[in-house]
Amino acid sequence: GMSHCSAFFSLMMAKKLEKHIEDMHVLITTPFHPAYVTAERIKKAKNLELVLTAGIGSDHIDLLAAAAAGLTVAEVTGSNTVSVAEDQLMRILILLRNFLPGYQQVVKGEWNVAGIAHRAYDLEGKTVGTVGAGRIGRLLLQRLKPFNCNMLYHDRIRINPELEKEIGAKFEEDLDVMLPKCDVIVINTPLTEKTRGMFNKEKIAKMKKGVIIVNNARGAIMDTQAVADACSNGYIAGYGGDVWFPQPAPKDHPWRYMPNHAMTPHTSGTTIDAQLRYASGVKDMLDRYFKGEDFPVENYIVKEGELASQYK
Ligand SMILES: NC(=O)c1ccc[n+]([C@@H]2O[C@H](COP(=O)([O-])OP(=O)(O)OC[C@H]3O[C@@H](n4cnc5c(N)ncnc54)[C@H](O)[C@@H]3O)[C@@H](O)[C@H]2O)c1
Repeated sequence: GMSHCSAFFSLMMAKKLEKHIEDMHVLITTPFHPAYVTAERIKKAKNLELVLTAGIGSDHIDLLAAAAAGLTVAEVTGSNTVSVAEDQLMRILILLRNFLPGYQQVVKGEWNVAGIAHRAYDLEGKTVGTVGAGRIGRLLLQRLKPFNCNMLYHDRIRINPELEKEIGAKFEEDLDVMLPKCDVIVINTPLTEKTRGMFNKEKIAKMKKGVIIVNNARGAIMDTQAVADACSNGYIAGYGGDVWFPQPAPKDHPWRYMPNHAMTPHTSGTTIDAQLRYASGVKDMLDRYFKGEDFPVENYIVKEGELASQYK
C-alpha cells in the first residue's frame, strides 16, 4: 500500500543521503518529508557549507551542530506563510463547525443532524489566541478580523502599536494568562529549544475545557501523549494541524487515532503556489552562493556558525 511505499521511499532516500553526504557542498531539504540532518550526519559531511530549506522551518536540522561546524543554514522566509495562514483558518472552521463527522455521515449513507449540531459553533464572538505572531500569526489575525472574534496574541516581541491597532489583536505578555481566555488556540512559533514540548499536560490544563487547538507550526512543540490524552477525555474538543513528530508519522502515531482531530500529512505550506515561491527562492540563493553574494538577511537561520536570535 501507499504507506509501505512511502516507508520504502524514505529508506531509499536515507541510504542515498548516507552515501553522498560526504561529497556534498550544498544540501537542499524540505520540511514536508524531512531528511533529518543530525549531528552524526553533519560530522560525516566534510565538504558541507550550505544547507537550504525549501520552505520554512529548519528544525529537522541539528542547528547547534550546524553552527558548531560553521555551516550556513537558510530557508525561503515568507514563501508559504499565506498558504499556512489560509489552512489554519480552514482547520479552525472545520473543528468549530464539527465538519468532519458530517462528511463521514454522508459517505456512510447516514443523516443525523443532532449528532453534528450538538457540538457545532459559530466563530463570531469566540476568543482566538495565537502563540507566536510573526509572519504567519499576523496573516492569520488579519484573515480572522472579518469574523468578529476577540483576538489575542502572545509573542516574545510585541507588534508595533500602529500595526497592532490595524490588526486588532490584544497583546498578552504572559502566556499563562492568555491560555484560559481562549476558545481557540493556534500555534505559530518555530520549534526551538524553548518551544520544544512546551504544551505538556500542565500547560494544556491551563487552557479552557473544550478548547480547540490548531498547530501547523511543528509537532514537537506539543507533548504528543498529553495531546492524545486530552482529546480522548474531551478536555481538548478538537485538535487540527499538519505537523507531526517524527515525519512521516509512523502508523501507530497516537494522533492518527485520537477523537475529534483534523490532521493531515504536512501539506499546508506546499500548495502549488507555495512550491513555485520556495523553488524560485532556493534557486535565487544557489545563484547568490555561486557568485559569493549574501542572501536576503531574513533567510538566515545559521550564518557561518551564528544562530538567528529566536533560535538562541
Ligand atoms: N506547516 C507548514 O507547512 C509550515 C510552513 C511554514 C512554516 N511553518 C512553521 O511555522 C513557523 C513560523 O513561521 P513564520 O514564518 O511565522 O516565522 P516568523 O519567524 O515570522 O514568526 C515566528 C514568531 O514566533 C515568535 N517566537 C519565537 N520563539 C518564541 C517563544 N519562545 N515564545 C513566544 N514567541 C516566540 C517570534 O518572535 C516570531 O514573532 C516556522 O518556524 C515553521 O516551523 C510550517
